[in-house]
Amino acid sequence: MDGARETGAVTAARAGIAGATTGAALELRGVTKMFGALAAISDVTMTVRPGERRAVLGSNGAGKTTLFNCVTGDFLPTSGTIRLFGEDVSAFPAHERIRRGLRRTYQISLLFTGLSVADNVYLACRGVSRGRFSLLRPRKGDPLLTRSLELVEAVHLTPHRDQLVSELSYGQQRQLEIALALAGAPRFILFDEPAAGLSPTERRELVAILTGLPSHMGFVIIEHDMDVALRVAESVTMMHNGRVFKEGTPAEIENDAEVQELYLGGGHHG
Ligand SMILES: Nc1ncnc2c1ncn2[C@@H]1O[C@H](COP(=O)(O)OP(=O)(O)OP(=O)(O)O)[C@@H](O)[C@H]1O
Ligand SMILES: [Mg+2]
Repeated sequence: MDGARETGAVTAARAGIAGATTGAALELRGVTKMFGALAAISDVTMTVRPGERRAVLGSNGAGKTTLFNCVTGDFLPTSGTIRLFGEDVSAFPAHERIRRGLRRTYQISLLFTGLSVADNVYLACRGVSRGRFSLLRPRKGDPLLTRSLELVEAVHLTPHRDQLVSELSYGQQRQLEIALALAGAPRFILFDEPAAGLSPTERRELVAILTGLPSHMGFVIIEHDMDVALRVAESVTMMHNGRVFKEGTPAEIENDAEVQELYLGGGHHG
């Protein structure tokens, strides 16, 4: 068993006991984040089950990324509580949440463009594992190397694994970012607009990658494209002005008159 998997298994066992109180993968209660006088999110309450796939919709500035930043620990909320697998992580730094199986991708790319696809994933796997490593290049038989190549495959980049990131298309770079988020056996992932700027073909590839993730792996995806959101998510939270505006199944949200008025009718970028 490699270091990363062992960490994930131990964390899962520990959180499994704590999680018995709520059974939720992610639970927000009354979360507010102020920037000066501006409430970027206000009194957000939301529960996501283990393995659930949730889309977060909302126009520019609705508070979607701020919500993610509060969940990951990039920001501490001004008030409210955040539970991960039953454990109150509201005051935990980001790395403690990562240790508990939480991952994210960013709206803006954070790849090592001068390295190969495989090396980017290998470094991500090493970064989240707790073993001790030499500075030597990975060797055949290194379990992290094996794992990183599996992740390259999971995001459909095996034919490109030895290419430099700078040589990849934009869509392929976004696929690689998903592989980095998959490093170290996460249990819950936050995807911040992974489809932004993708061509229709690249969007289809993204949908295939997301729907192909292991079923125990829950995620929340911020997505402006309804077609993508509806194809990958079983539930939708619609945000407006920092608040939860509506929650429901994709069909309920799509057919909701208020949502159509507010969101589909305009006022958001595409
Ligand atoms: N670090 C920050 N400092 C000050 N204000 C911020 C900060 N981050 C976000 N905001 C403000 O909080 C509000 C919510 O922003 P946020 O980025 O969460 O929206 P979003 O829903 O992700 O929008 P988009 O669709 O454009 O990505 C906005 O008014 C934004 O200007
Ligand atoms: Mg955002």
